[in-house]
Amino acid sequence: MAYVIETKDLTKFFGKRNIIYHLNLKVPRGVVYGFLGPNGAGKTTTIKMLTASLRPTYGEIRIFGLEMPQKRVEIMKSVGYMPEVPIAYEDMTIFDFLIYMGRLSGLKKEKATEQAKDLMNYVGVGKLALNKIKELSSGQKQRVTFASALIGNPELLILDEPTANLDPLGRIEFIGKIISLAKEGKTIFVSSHIVSEVEKMCNYVGLINQGRLIAQGRIRDLTQIEENDYDVATSNNALALNFLKEKPYVREVWEEEGIIRVQVDPRFLDELFLQFPKYLASQGIRLKLFRPHTSPLERILMEKFGIGEVGD
Ligand SMILES: Nc1ncnc2c1ncn2[C@@H]1O[C@H](COP(=O)(O)OP(=O)(O)OP(=O)(O)O)[C@@H](O)[C@H]1O
Ligand SMILES: [Mg+2]
Repeated sequence: MAYVIETKDLTKFFGKRNIIYHLNLKVPRGVVYGFLGPNGAGKTTTIKMLTASLRPTYGEIRIFGLEMPQKRVEIMKSVGYMPEVPIAYEDMTIFDFLIYMGRLSGLKKEKATEQAKDLMNYVGVGKLALNKIKELSSGQKQRVTFASALIGNPELLILDEPTANLDPLGRIEFIGKIISLAKEGKTIFVSSHIVSEVEKMCNYVGLINQGRLIAQGRIRDLTQIEENDYDVATSNNALALNFLKEKPYVREVWEEEGIIRVQVDPRFLDELFLQFPKYLASQGIRLKLFRPHTSPLERILMEKFGIGEVGD
């Protein structure tokens, strides 16, 4: 299989400190790849090497099958990069900055201007067009940096914690945009330390911890572990709880703050799934919530990292 990004034994030392260990990334075409790991794991260091802003100590990087950093100029024509620390051009207006970036990428003035307008509206800073970069909030700056990554309609996006400064609504909008960009056929490599966000926007994941890739692959394939711990809420929890307590396949069941936690013998999951809704319907009880207690990706993380949380 041809990968859009592929690294072989990618390794980085800062002085004597080994920060990245033999990373073998494989990013297939058309996926949204979540590069997930805690603070200090090595995400930014890896991304800087992928975009040739930092030299590997050793190892190979191929993007579109071409060698990085040797083929940097050619590769970066088709890459939109959103760095962790955005934009240095503090005295430019957003509009001028985006036109300038468009010109740098080889667009004629008219085309660059038209694209700048479209992108400002797309990322939600159209009304701020004539504000200087230094006058923007960090979330607004992040939106402008996202716009600049989209200049020239690149086929690969490399985004380093693109939602870090966005407000909750901004995050939801951003995730929607990533999903539609992926539908257009782009490959998106995006770092994050927020599990729920990766679950919403990515179909691939690479888990990095202390400079090592711990797991990589399609989220659906990685998360096929039997679930046996559920959160349940109904319009009559007392009755529902009594029903569950009597079932031989229920190992433990208790109520916490309006939510019933039920742990089931996974061999008899089908019985729970068939009998419980039937019982609720017969009693006229409404089911309000039924979901695995931890999300599939969280379970993988607990297994691989040996901890409950990667970040927030
Ligand atoms: N220029 C540098 N010199 C020395 N050490 C560095 C340098 N840059 C990063 N490091 C170290 O490398 C490790 C990985 O840093 P990196 O910025 O890649 O992490 P990250 O996964 O992006 O974290 P975050 O989620 O906080 O952005 C950290 O321990 C950091 O201290
Ligand atoms: Mg980082």
